[in-house]
Amino acid sequence: MPTHRSRREFVKSAAILSAAAVAAPSIADAAPAPQSKDHSSPLTPHPGALYDVARDEAYWTQVAAKYRITPRTTNMEAGYFGMMALPVLDAYHSYIDRANSESSYFARREYPAMMRAARERVAAFVGAKPTELAFSRGATEALQALIGQYNRVQPGDTVMYADLDYNAMQWAMNALAARCKANATWVDIPEPATRENILAAYTNALNANPRTKLLLLTHCNNKTGLLLPVSDIVKVAKARGVDVVVDAAHSFGQVPLTMSDMGADFVGLNLHKWIGAPVGAGALYIREGRLDAIDRAHADESAPLDRIESRIHTGTTHFATVMTIPDAIDFQLSIGIPQKAARLRYLRDRWVHAVANVKGVTILTPEDAALTGAITGFRLHNRGTSNANRALATTLHDEFGVFTFQRTGLAKGDCVRVTPTLYNTPADADKLAAAIRTIAARG
Ligand SMILES: Cc1ncc(COP(=O)(O)O)c(C=O)c1O
Repeated sequence: MPTHRSRREFVKSAAILSAAAVAAPSIADAAPAPQSKDHSSPLTPHPGALYDVARDEAYWTQVAAKYRITPRTTNMEAGYFGMMALPVLDAYHSYIDRANSESSYFARREYPAMMRAARERVAAFVGAKPTELAFSRGATEALQALIGQYNRVQPGDTVMYADLDYNAMQWAMNALAARCKANATWVDIPEPATRENILAAYTNALNANPRTKLLLLTHCNNKTGLLLPVSDIVKVAKARGVDVVVDAAHSFGQVPLTMSDMGADFVGLNLHKWIGAPVGAGALYIREGRLDAIDRAHADESAPLDRIESRIHTGTTHFATVMTIPDAIDFQLSIGIPQKAARLRYLRDRWVHAVANVKGVTILTPEDAALTGAITGFRLHNRGTSNANRALATTLHDEFGVFTFQRTGLAKGDCVRVTPTLYNTPADADKLAAAIRTIAARG
């Protein structure tokens, strides 16, 4: 049965989150990362079978050389944001110089066409029409616009989300419910999760709440990394007349995915996690024909009502960030998303399989290839308190040199999240696994 959580619990979670900085480094540690020797040679997608691609260390060494990685830690916390690869960073620097030196002369005359070209590239990347996308500064901004401006909720209706959804979106759903005098209802995603029990949880919750109007789904959640079977849930929701808004902050670029794979009408995403654009890049997607369900942003009159740009108004753009988006997409495509996903899953499996049977270790994403990508959360000895997981992440960093992060808000308690990315190696995964084994043995 879905349960409803109090606002106080959310506020408490937020306080815990903000207090959860792990292992503040000393100033003496703050050496600059060394420059990579050569990042100019272009990459091309590995032509092999995905199993072999994932394990070709010579190839992934070339990929890792495109990143300037700090020697201060073994960073397995790429879920926060995706570091720009060096070719992307070079492009970004040159665009900053250009926007700064050519100023409004460039911004007014040439930037608009570059922005439209960037939007076309994103549209092709996510499988949308350019007119279905508008840029935002991240997934939060996009999703807050989609949720906050959703106009189909009446007094007495219900909006629904899950324990694994991102706090800011849960709060946006609560605020929507409060403003519309509707109810906010909560689904706990089962642990351990399977495609069947996830679908059953949402189906039961929707059946129990027949006045549900809007359902928030997080395609890849930021806590355990579970990938929801979004298209199956969307079918269940649409059959009941329920609109679905998808939080795809962690999706595109982590796993192969298109908008039509999900089938939802409203999606918010960023480009600064798994697509590796500069921080401050995101987009909202509204399926063609569904603009009516989302009000204008703050009664914005700058764009016609039949254009998606009228649904978000971010003010003066960070020009260089938007200009860099095509370079970031080029870099991703020079590796290939299926190839990247295979590598990340290999790195994830490497540490997970090394500890999954260790006494006291609970892995929070299933083995099912469709339900897990790079990110995986774990708990030790069923300890779900905030303190225990903050201490665990701190020990991993301070004692073993592996940087991970505590995540909060799960129905069964907090966990530690591990996120490998393109510059991580099997040795990093082994180092983490050895650390977890040692800590678990302490009881
Ligand atoms: C699931 C999820 N949704 C939304 C966001 C917010 O994304 P952004 O930082 O682009 O606003 C995050 C960020 O970590 C996230 O993990």
